[in-house]
Order: sequence, then structure tokens, then C-alpha cells
Amino acid sequence: MSHLQGQIAIITGAGQKQGIGRAIAMKLAEQGANTILTDLQSSTELETIAADISKSTNTHSMGFFCDLTKAEEIEKCVEFALKEFGQIDILVNNAGVAGSGTNFLEIDSASWDLSYNVNIKGTVNFCRAILPLMTKQQAGIIVNNSSLCGLGALEAIPASYTATKFAIIGLTKSIALEFASQNIRCNAVCPGVVNTGMRQDALTRIAEQMNISLEEAEKFEDEAIAMKRAAEPEEVADAVAYLASPAASYITGVTLPVAGGLAAGL
Ligand SMILES: NC(=O)c1ccc[n+]([C@@H]2O[C@H](COP(=O)([O-])OP(=O)(O)OC[C@H]3O[C@@H](n4cnc5c(N)ncnc54)[C@H](O)[C@@H]3O)[C@@H](O)[C@H]2O)c1
Repeated sequence: MSHLQGQIAIITGAGQKQGIGRAIAMKLAEQGANTILTDLQSSTELETIAADISKSTNTHSMGFFCDLTKAEEIEKCVEFALKEFGQIDILVNNAGVAGSGTNFLEIDSASWDLSYNVNIKGTVNFCRAILPLMTKQQAGIIVNNSSLCGLGALEAIPASYTATKFAIIGLTKSIALEFASQNIRCNAVCPGVVNTGMRQDALTRIAEQMNISLEEAEKFEDEAIAMKRAAEPEEVADAVAYLASPAASYITGVTLPVAGGLAAGL
């Protein structure tokens, strides 16, 4: 399959081997896109991941360290992508932080600020940096990674996470509406539970809170999902690749749950 041959995609938060961002980058590259992977400089394997994607898909994948809380670093990333490739066709705003504290009154101001600055402001700033270019191109695709928590509140999830993921949905719909006539589509995926480092942290929190083992916490969480299992990062990546593909050419402003029937009634 090479639906995306010659396209250039930026994927944020792609610096974890087990993360959703890496899986998205790999999936887009498998369809022919050249990719720019971004992440924080610390705790990241960005260069290794980019090299691995280039090698296994025969595309050009590059890493660019970029802290999404700093608008000037986002602008530098867009400049870098343009210098390297001359165009940017797809932006996947995937990076996110889970936040800390499950009870509302436990969440301190610094934690609210971090969730806001990464999850929503980082996404806003990347869109602000790239939309003038997409408008000039009269073409572009944005896919935002929200969460099922962007559609409804779930137990044991920090309010700072839920609130900022709801905001991503509002942003997605506003951009979709405003830029549709310029051939720019903007959609969101809403994953439920995905087997990544972020899930491991959540399981540790649940285990501590319920005074149970990690295995019991995993079983407890799986039982709440209609399909009785968490997603693999590649299953979320498939949904993103679909929304980025020509097969979704008439789809904009949607929020697609990728959640195995978790909270199926939402
Ligand atoms: N894992 C899940 O169960 C799950 C469920 C629903 C939604 N999501 C969402 O999917 C996305 C990816 O999550 P994941 O599970 O792969 O987690 P992850 O922690 O493996 O990946 C998140 C990435 O974002 C990066 N990041 C954090 N702050 C950043 C900053 N200031 N600047 C740049 N990068 C930054 C991290 O370094 C990390 O590589 C997130 O937006 C998350 O909210 C995850």
C-alpha cells in the first residue's frame, strides 16, 4: 500500500519504543510517507526509532527534539521540516501527559499547568504554526490524539487529563469547520486503554489505590472493556492512518473512538 507516497508527515510524541506515536509514524511510513518524529530530548529514543522506520519502510524518517510547551521550538520544527522536505501534508498531534492525582482536590496547580501546556496548548501551537502553510498549499490533514476521556469522564482518571482531552475535541471541530473550504481536514482519535508506558503508569496508580497487584489491576481494567483487552498501539495507528488517507477524503470534524467498546454507550 502506498496511499501516502511523497507525503510529508510530522508526528509529535513519537519518542517511545512502545508508544502510540512511534506506531503511527511506522504506519504512515509503511504507506509511503516521509516522517518527522518529534519528542522531548529527555527520556527518548527518537533517533533510533527514526532510523529504524527509515530502514524498514525505505522512506526518509528524521527525529527533531521539540518541547511542545515552547512555541518557539514548534516553529523551529516546522522550519526544519520545510527546509528538509519543502512541504508538510500531515500533522499528527499525538504527544500528551497523563497528569497526576486521581482526586480533583489532589491535583496541584503545577500539574494542571503541565496538562494544559502539553495536551492543549502544544496542540494549539502546532496547529498555529502549520495552518498558514496548509492554507497556502490549499491542502492538509491534521489528526489529533484525544482520548475516550475527551468524550466522557472515566473513573480514576485525573480531571486535568479529561478536561484537556475534551478541549482537544473542541479544537478539532473548530479547525475542521473553519478550514474545510481550503481542503484541510481535521479529525481526532479517541483511544480507550492502550498497552504503552502511559498505561503502565495508570496501572501502578490503580494498584496502589485499590491495594492490589499490578496483574490484578490489569485484569480489573480489561474486564471493564467490552472486548476484554487493551488495544495495541498499532490498532490506534491504523485508525490515524485511515483518517490521514484518501479513503477518508470526505471526513472532517469527527472524533473516532478506538476503544474496544469501553464505555460503548457514550
Ligand atoms: N495509552 C493509553 O491508554 C492512551 C489512551 C488514550 C489516549 N492516549 C493518548 O495517546 C497519546 C500517546 O500516548 P502513549 O500512550 O503513547 O504515551 P507515551 O507516554 O508513551 O507517549 C507520550 C509521548 O509524549 C511525549 N511528551 C510529553 N510531554 C511532551 C512535551 N512537552 N513535548 C514533547 N513531547 C512530549 C512523551 O515524551 C512521550 O514520548 C497521548 O496523547 C495520550 O494521552 C493514550
